[in-house]
Amino acid sequence: MSPSFSKVFLAVVAVAVLATTQSEASLCAKSSFPKLCESVIGGTSSPEAALTKSIQASLKQFLNAQSTARHTNANKSCREQCAEMYQSAIDSLNHSLEYVKTKDIGGLRSELSAVLTYVETCNDAFAEFQIKNPYANTNEKLKEYGDNNLVLAAAIH
Ligand SMILES: *[C@@H]1O[C@H](CO)[C@@H](O)[C@H](O)[C@H]1NC(C)=O
Ligand SMILES: *[C@@H]1O[C@H](CO)[C@@H](O)[C@H](O)[C@H]1NC(C)=O
Repeated sequence: MSPSFSKVFLAVVAVAVLATTQSEASLCAKSSFPKLCESVIGGTSSPEAALTKSIQASLKQFLNAQSTARHTNANKSCREQCAEMYQSAIDSLNHSLEYVKTKDIGGLRSELSAVLTYVETCNDAFAEFQIKNPYANTNEKLKEYGDNNLVLAAAIH
């Protein structure tokens, strides 16, 4: 390898590495939970693929929350409200996966915003009765995933 060739080669590699790092960083850059965002999207640089991963990760969290909630000793009416809200969130996330494919930006944003509202409505059930919310920590985590979905959705045009 001639010295000039290897320099050019190194420069090309450096630029490629920088470009990759930058696009990953920028997809999660506006996230309030960048570590979670990065761990969920991994090395994905396509906004659509990153959002799909993030929605799938959220779905998994909601499905876990739903099955755990069934076995929680919470006030029955609150528990039922939360079960309903988790199911609605799961349906919205499922629809939003379709909207990523069809690039329905309006549908995507409205479904992904609804997910956060559903989590809040579950919290409200407990707040209204002023009783301890056994789902508080789970719901905080669900909101972090939900926030990241919206941040990643904003990168799709
Ligand atoms: C849930 O909590 C509310 C407020 O304390 C109470 O009125 C209601 O009876 C409770 N429901 C059950 C099933 O415990
Ligand atoms: C998502 O929707 C598809 C098609 O309607 C359905 O078969 C699937 O069970 C749904 N997944 C979840 C997690 O609800």
